[in-house]
Amino acid sequence: MTVNGTYVVTGSASGMGAAVAAALRADGHAVIGVDLRDADVVADLSTSAGRRAAADEVLGRSDGILDGAVLAAGMGPAAGRERMIVEVNVLGVTELLEAWRPALASAEKAKVVVFGSNSTTVTPLVPRSAVRRLLNGDAEGATRAIRRRRGVTGPVAYASSKIAVTQWCRRHGTSPEWAGSGIRVNVIAPGPVMTPMLRSQLDGPEAGRVRSFPIPVREFGTSEQLASWVKLMLSPAADFMAGAVVTVDGGTDALIRSRAWPSPLPLRGVPRLLWSMYRAPKDGQVARY
Ligand code: NAI
Repeated sequence: MTVNGTYVVTGSASGMGAAVAAALRADGHAVIGVDLRDADVVADLSTSAGRRAAADEVLGRSDGILDGAVLAAGMGPAAGRERMIVEVNVLGVTELLEAWRPALASAEKAKVVVFGSNSTTVTPLVPRSAVRRLLNGDAEGATRAIRRRRGVTGPVAYASSKIAVTQWCRRHGTSPEWAGSGIRVNVIAPGPVMTPMLRSQLDGPEAGRVRSFPIPVREFGTSEQLASWVKLMLSPAADFMAGAVVTVDGGTDALIRSRAWPSPLPLRGVPRLLWSMYRAPKDGQVARY
């Protein structure tokens, strides 16, 4: 069979990562799966040595060209594992993507899809300092800030990690190094999807909190539904998409935050580059940032 493209999928052994890997393989693509077990590249993304080894092995297997990357490896909101949650969910994305950027830039219009979460917009008590520290690569400092939220450290660690990784994608995904190099970086933000991760929450001490989560469509999502969205975000349909967050959550975010977004842009603090749109480029040209 001819191989159409080469994609790396982290978290390929379970849940949504497994569904994405299966869908890509069914379309004739080569998939390099990365996970703790049952994967082409077996690596522990909670340590910097594991992340480095995974990044290098994927580059070796891809011959230096990647048509796309799907970052689905992640840890759920388990109390007591705050440090691991932020290491896997943030550094397990950002460090790998930094290492793979040249290989992605070598492909024609490569696509990156990162798994965020709707917990980014519906979780209270997330310390801004934790998010700031994570964006600076300071997992230890972030964990200290998270542990001060006694009683809710698991959900707060999870939401902090997903906010940080989403902001990283929006910032870098619109920069000359990524968008300007032909790479499209976008985020998918699922609500509760029936995977082993959600199953373990429903079977654990947080079951009540998870079950009381309001979902307007009154059902959980499936891995196959989310994999279909990811496939679209890997297709040419996403050529004109950068730094976007695609929320697929049965309506929870819209229900809880219906007036938070979109909202008018405040005049104070408007980024300087926005004003450049008033210095209109010549006819037929697109402003360059
Ligand atoms: P899952 O638990 O079925 O799969 C996650 C995979 O990540 C597993 O195969 C696991 O081995 C791997 N992984 C975890 N820690 C790792 C490590 N240290 N090194 C290497 N691999 C590691 O989870 P699911 O539900 O498919 O989640 C996929 C992504 O979607 C995750 O990033 C998750 O945070 C996110 N998400 C999940 C939601 C849900 O309701 N299931 C909701 C919103 C976001």
